[in-house]
Amino acid sequence: MEQQIAGEKGQIVSIHKICPKIHSERDLSLLLDLIAQEATRILQADRASIFLLDETTGELWSKVALGAAETLRLDARLGVAGAVVSTGNTFNVEDAQKSPDFYSAIDVHTGYHTRTLLAAPLRTLAGEITGVFEVLNKVDGRFTRADEEILAALAAQAAVAIETAQLVEELNRHRRELQQENSQLRKEVQGRFYTQKIIGASTKIQAVLNLIRQLSDSSVSVLITGDSGTGKELVAKAIHYSSARVRRPFVALNCAALPDTLVESELFGIERGVATGVDRRIGKFEEANGGTLFLDEIGDLSTTSQAKILRVLQERVVEHVGGRKEIPVDVRVVAATNKDLESEIKKGGFRHDLYYRLKVAHIQMPALREIPEDIPLLSKYFLAQYCGEMKKQTMSLSHEALDCFVHYSWPGNVRELENEIRRIVVSVPRQIILEEDLSSGIRGCGYKTLAAILPDASDLKASVIELEKRMILGALRQHRQNQQQAAKGLGLSRQGLIKKMKRYGIKSE
Ligand SMILES: Nc1ncnc2c1ncn2[C@@H]1O[C@H](COP(=O)(O)OP(=O)(O)OP(=O)(O)O)[C@@H](O)[C@H]1O
Ligand SMILES: [Mg+2]
Repeated sequence: MEQQIAGEKGQIVSIHKICPKIHSERDLSLLLDLIAQEATRILQADRASIFLLDETTGELWSKVALGAAETLRLDARLGVAGAVVSTGNTFNVEDAQKSPDFYSAIDVHTGYHTRTLLAAPLRTLAGEITGVFEVLNKVDGRFTRADEEILAALAAQAAVAIETAQLVEELNRHRRELQQENSQLRKEVQGRFYTQKIIGASTKIQAVLNLIRQLSDSSVSVLITGDSGTGKELVAKAIHYSSARVRRPFVALNCAALPDTLVESELFGIERGVATGVDRRIGKFEEANGGTLFLDEIGDLSTTSQAKILRVLQERVVEHVGGRKEIPVDVRVVAATNKDLESEIKKGGFRHDLYYRLKVAHIQMPALREIPEDIPLLSKYFLAQYCGEMKKQTMSLSHEALDCFVHYSWPGNVRELENEIRRIVVSVPRQIILEEDLSSGIRGCGYKTLAAILPDASDLKASVIELEKRMILGALRQHRQNQQQAAKGLGLSRQGLIKKMKRYGIKSE
């Protein structure tokens, strides 16, 4: 009797001793090993197994059945372990081979012979059963009542340690996934938008690139103006991604799509319950904190909304709609518009104070027809890009087709050129693109090709007149009927152009 009490005391002391060890082990696999080892030692068993419940498959699985190397999986309704899961009770089986609960297939599988078996549930602190703790084959005789209590005590400690280790494992996995995704996204974004994606050797584009470089180590506001499709958004992203703010968000807001009533909640955020069913939400300024807020189509904002934005730019704080707290924000603002803001100011449609706040730096994007020398470069770039995307061999433009491209007026600017090339790459089966492959408005714009379509190539005088007429028409079309620019493009004075237009009966459209 005394010996028995001394043994039990020793077991309790052992449990106390191993507690710090198991609670500091964060690696699930090592932890399971450790618990199994300690259990076999303390309970003088031959082997210990820890089964964890897999809710999704309804299976119990075990990484360790001490002595057996491989993982076991079994239906969570089977055997003594199954009975423990379903009843939540501890089972002390004196003769496994005779017990109706015993599932002999496992012995067959592992080649082990189970004589005696003690099994207790693993429970979370909340009482939920997460697995089964089994010890097998007591070295001397059978497991006692005291052993049952010891196992229950061990199981209680083990369950908490396992739960913690599983959580840590899950958190770590989650963190790794997020880190991976994050760096993947960052690479993609940087790869896609850094300054090198702005193509152009013309002095105008080079000046834009220089300006972006100069702006990269400051946080001043930038206003980007230019016609539709000239690359304003591309430049806005390049400004952000080449600045020190690159690790913080680039948030774009299209002001044209924003009704006046939503401007405040969208930009500054809103408190819960301001209107029925409204949840608390942060605004774009807060979202962009530390980064860049791109206000696209700023010329389309009402003057009331302009005043609200101006206030944030001046005070560098926002207040949620329905909130009373001022939240400081550190945001670089880049705004873009295809409107002529100075004339809008004169008409009273745009606030001059906001204009000057935004226009600390100003980038004017050239229309594509102002940089015809970049058209071959841009065409080649888009051809390579789209042929690559569509897994086609790289296509190229014939002289005639390129000539049409260079002389066409491109009212939709680079976007129109990009779309035209995408269409060609999809639809043209040849590697060399001919003039006939071009859209109808672009076809026939080349000067070189005119010689080929003159009415009578043998009559020099008639041909010269025809050529002159077509060149004048082409130049007028290219410069959207602006006679000053068309004359310049043709190397004539404006008067000279008007004289020729009169002579050939060409009327201004
Ligand atoms: N210099 C350039 N080099 C390469 N691609 C360009 C260039 N300029 C514009 N693009 C491309 O042309 C398309 C239109 O550009 P973007 O959307 O930036 O124009 P935008 O000025 O913002 O037009 P909108 O006023 O219509 O919004 C985009 O696909 C962009 O990548
Ligand atoms: Mg845009």
